[in-house]
Amino acid sequence: MTGADTFRAAAAYDRAVGRYGASLAVELIAFAGVEPGMRALDVGCGTGLLTAALAERLGAENVAGAEPSEPFAEACRARLPGVEVVVAGAEALPFGEGAFDAALSQLVVNFMRDAEAGVRELARVTRPGGVVASCVWDYAGEMTLLRAFWDAAREVEPERAAAADEGVVMRWCSEEELRELWEGAGLRDVSTGALMARAAYDDFEDLWAPFPSGIAPSGAFTASLDVVGRAALHDAFRRRLGVGGEPFELTARAWAVRGAAP
Ligand SMILES: C[S@@+](CC[C@H](N)C(=O)[O-])C[C@H]1O[C@@H](n2cnc3c(N)ncnc32)[C@H](O)[C@@H]1O
Repeated sequence: MTGADTFRAAAAYDRAVGRYGASLAVELIAFAGVEPGMRALDVGCGTGLLTAALAERLGAENVAGAEPSEPFAEACRARLPGVEVVVAGAEALPFGEGAFDAALSQLVVNFMRDAEAGVRELARVTRPGGVVASCVWDYAGEMTLLRAFWDAAREVEPERAAAADEGVVMRWCSEEELRELWEGAGLRDVSTGALMARAAYDDFEDLWAPFPSGIAPSGAFTASLDVVGRAALHDAFRRRLGVGGEPFELTARAWAVRGAAP
């Protein structure tokens, strides 16, 4: 699934994948080389996890966000008064050419309807020589939470889960593909790398709680199961993670790409 369809419940998002957002944002900002004095745009800003880190570094008045899901855009505005948040997709950004020193997007290009057009837009709104940077989860490898989720889902509903597994169906989830996307959009001096994020949980139930709400593709798959299927998924997921009633932490790898606007 792509697009903003499964990104509507802001509180559930912050408890699910959003739990990694703040630590990932610190890594992406360092990788992109965003420094005080710059003006930055966060594309697909969601509930504002990267936006918050940018506002802390640059000041809210120097940060803008674009997000196609209205409830997520509203959650971002509520979190960050003073940041301009527009309801828009990456493919048609309502900003002028060269309006920003940096255009970033965190965990978004794989959800864009047209990633080539979206990245061209990020480049268009960035001044010549400014940075365009992004990251996506290593769904097929070391995004521990989602890899364990889809492996458990494949045990419970092999065919349907194989068709929805983000490690298989998502594009732009490797360094090679991201480099190709960035170079294809005319960005220069393109480089890629790995970013590590982390999240802390009270116990497995704390981790599981947002999944049945339908948030993100993994939540949508969970919500589509009947009570018996959901219980089987819950148990297989817990077993694959090897966690239970104690607090624990998980790490997650994302592939990152940056380039200079022409
Ligand atoms: C996994 S969330 C990431 C949100 C936020 N960047 C973060 O790090 O928490 C993916 C986001 O991409 C947004 N999105 C989906 N299609 C998009 C598009 N075409 N252009 C921009 N954002 C899009 C979704 O609505 C959602 O907010």
